[in-house]
Amino acid sequence: MQLFDIEINETIYKEAKSFLDQLACESGLSINIEERLKEIRNELEQTGTYTHTFEELKFGAKIAWRNSNRCIGRLFWKSLDVFDYRDLTEPDDIFNALEVYLQHATNGGKIRSSICVFAPQHPQSQDEIRILNNKLIRYAGYKSGEKVIGDPEEVEVTKLCQKLGWKGEGTPFDVLPVVIQVPGRALEYYNLNPKDVLEVDIEHPEFKWFKELGLKWYAIPVISNMVLEIGGIRYPAAPFNGWFMGTEIGSRNLGDVNRYNMLPEVAKRMNLDIGSKTNLWKDRALVELNTAVLYSYKKAGITIVDHHTASHQFIRFVEQERKSGRDVTSEWSWIVPPMSGSSVEVFHKDWPNEIKKPNYFYRD
Ligand code: ARG
Repeated sequence: MQLFDIEINETIYKEAKSFLDQLACESGLSINIEERLKEIRNELEQTGTYTHTFEELKFGAKIAWRNSNRCIGRLFWKSLDVFDYRDLTEPDDIFNALEVYLQHATNGGKIRSSICVFAPQHPQSQDEIRILNNKLIRYAGYKSGEKVIGDPEEVEVTKLCQKLGWKGEGTPFDVLPVVIQVPGRALEYYNLNPKDVLEVDIEHPEFKWFKELGLKWYAIPVISNMVLEIGGIRYPAAPFNGWFMGTEIGSRNLGDVNRYNMLPEVAKRMNLDIGSKTNLWKDRALVELNTAVLYSYKKAGITIVDHHTASHQFIRFVEQERKSGRDVTSEWSWIVPPMSGSSVEVFHKDWPNEIKKPNYFYRD
């Protein structure tokens, strides 16, 4: 009796083989590829899937980072800490694991790039463990009419949390709970322990009034809605983090018109005429907002990188890859920072935007 679709098995086997070839050639691990592939073929025939060893998982997650065309921080891909929680099935346990991961990654502000991997999806099933938040830590966005209090990008997630029974305080900076989906179970939400959510009040090195804007941001960016794919196996719940580049917060999260939209307010406090275009009030406000973000994170002892340093680190990454005999792929519009583009090295270069695997993917 044939239990599993042969074609799907064949596709996965091919992906597994190409991943293992890469592993053998790069990692210096002494693995017997033929043995391992035989094992994988067997497991596929028996179960319709196969199980990565921890070494394979670790290596796969790191290469997936290295292959992330939108990430400027890839110089550090080898230093990813990998947490293996593939055996967990209970939402409570999954949440506890997330807290352990978050504490490790946050590390009191000395941020460690880490990933926390939960059970993979069976290739012949739609079921998946999933974290429904876009980011593990984000602020709620409450929409009433045309106005949003908080983060407009999180209005949908906020509505979902409210539907599940969560009630936020209604401030612009309410940390959202984590929503966990486990096959065959109702969605569960969990409030993060405030002790685990490090935050930074934003102040400016010269403008004393800046504090009065009441801005803050969380210390650690954790992407929780991407699927890690290694050797044909999909990990739908695999939140991972690096540290912030200042412009993510100063230009985008706090500056974008469809986010916290703080440029007009900052410019007014700087006594700039926001009716003019030629006085570059937006640009000047942007610089000061970004200066404040970098200053505040540094002062609080929280890892952050400015875009000039990050750009230079990316160039070093390209060089390092070249020495290892690999070509870098990237997406230019993401690699170039959202401020002072032409003042950084990456603006003047470009690399092909081809997709290599392993990688992190968005769902359709
Ligand atoms: N830009 C996203 C945010 O502000 C985070 C993306 C990941 N960033 C990082 N530095 N690893 O929430």
